[in-house]
Parts: sequence; structure tokens; C-alpha cells
Amino acid sequence: MVDGVLARSFERTGADYDRYRPGFPAEAADLLVPDRVASALDLGAGTGKFTALLLGRAAEVVAVEPSGAMLDVLRAKLPAVAAHLGSAERIPVPDSSMSVVSVAQAFHWFERDEACTEIRRVLVENGRLGLIWNRSNPSCAWDRAAHRVAHPAVSDADGTTSAAAADLPGFEPVARQEVHWTERISRSDYLRRWATVSTFLVADPDTRAEMLAQIVHILDEHPETHGSEDLELPIVTDVFVYRRA
Ligand SMILES: C[S@@+](CC[C@H](N)C(=O)[O-])C[C@H]1O[C@@H](n2cnc3c(N)ncnc32)[C@H](O)[C@@H]1O
Repeated sequence: MVDGVLARSFERTGADYDRYRPGFPAEAADLLVPDRVASALDLGAGTGKFTALLLGRAAEVVAVEPSGAMLDVLRAKLPAVAAHLGSAERIPVPDSSMSVVSVAQAFHWFERDEACTEIRRVLVENGRLGLIWNRSNPSCAWDRAAHRVAHPAVSDADGTTSAAAADLPGFEPVARQEVHWTERISRSDYLRRWATVSTFLVADPDTRAEMLAQIVHILDEHPETHGSEDLELPIVTDVFVYRRA
């Protein structure tokens, strides 16, 4: 069961989310859309970080997102995209109209069975679904420690993604791949990034300040980040590709 309060936390962010959250490597989009297609839908599109990679890979790009604040940023950034308010459980596009559906960093917020039924409905026969998540690289101890502050219940940072991406009703798996890459990020942007994460967004101000102080402490103490203004953050992007069964 999805935590509705956390899922709706993104209603309160937009510009900050776009500025501080990481993007996705082009290789992730290549795995899902190796050849140009007629149409692609980015579901739970947020501010369009993955949607942007679909432009040039699909003749028609559609974005669906329930947060008006996120969608405003997407519309300003990507005017060529047809952007609609909507949800994965009620996708405002016609039956059999999309060659590809992508879901970046969002599938774990969906009511899984309802979303799968809807995604099947909008996909053409043989259409592809891609689930994409950025996650902490296990080799990066300081980033793992920061993740444990934000998500204490998730001991393994990729637990959410692999659990959410297991067998999907009405789909069969085609490919699964990890893309490893490194982001250069300033210490202050890394700290601001945490303020855009769902558990921070819903925390009361005192709790949020305490969580942030813990992450500052981690950066101050760890030998790889101590005294450093520029961080090298290794990221793993998981890509799960399915086809309509
Ligand atoms: C972590 S953000 C990811 C946004 C974007 N895909 C990205 O990668 O930057 C999760 C997004 O899922 C959206 N979301 C939450 N529940 C949803 C639902 N039931 N259907 C569609 N999107 C949903 C949120 O509004 C938010 O924009």
C-alpha cells in the first residue's frame, strides 16, 4: 500500500526539485527506446527530467503528472511536450496510443495493479514499459549514510526499487540493466537536494533541521567529503524494460 502523504509530498515542490535532483543518463533512455518510436508517455513525469530524454526519441512526447507545481516547471522547460494533469491510475490518454511508457523514480508511488492495468490500456500491442530509478551506489559510504537518515526503514537503498519492479501483472520482462555514472555536485547543492526528498518534505521543521544536521555531520566527518566543496557522487541508474504480455 502506497503512503499517500509521502506520495503527495511533491505537490509542495517544483523549481527546487528541478534544480537540485539528479537527471538521468542518456544510456537509460537508449535502453528503453533504442530506435525512434511514434509516441512516448512519461508517467509521474515531475518536472520533466526523464521526459527531456524522450524528445528526439519519439515523434510525440506526452507527460502525465498529478502535481501542478511540478507540471508548471515541465511546461516552461519543455513546451514541445503535451503535458497533462493526471495519475498512473487514471491516465488521460486514449487506448492503444503509446509506443512506450516510461516511469522514472515514481513507480513505487503508484497503486501497482491499477497502474499496470492503465499502462497496458494505453500501450500499443508490443509496446514497452520502462521503470527507471536512480539510487545510491553501494560503494559510496557517505551517500549511503545520508540515505539512511532520509529513509531509516529502508536498510538497502535499492530495496524499494527491486521490490516495486518485480513481476508486473500483464507484462513480461525484456531487460534489466544498471548504468553507473558520476555526478559532480557542490556540497551546498547536495544538502539542498535532501530538502526535496519526500521524507524531508513531510517532516516538521525541527525534525527536518535535525535530519539535515545529521547529513552535515556525515559530510564533515567522512574522509572523502571532509572540507570538500565539490563532491563526486557515484550514482546507479536501474533500468527495467517490459513488454505488454
Ligand atoms: C520522485 S518524483 C519523480 C519525478 C520525475 N519522474 C523525475 O524522475 O524527476 C515522483 C513523482 O511521482 C508523482 N506521483 C506520485 N503519485 C503518483 C501517481 N499515483 N501517479 C502518477 N504520478 C505520481 C509525484 O507527483 C512526483 O512528481
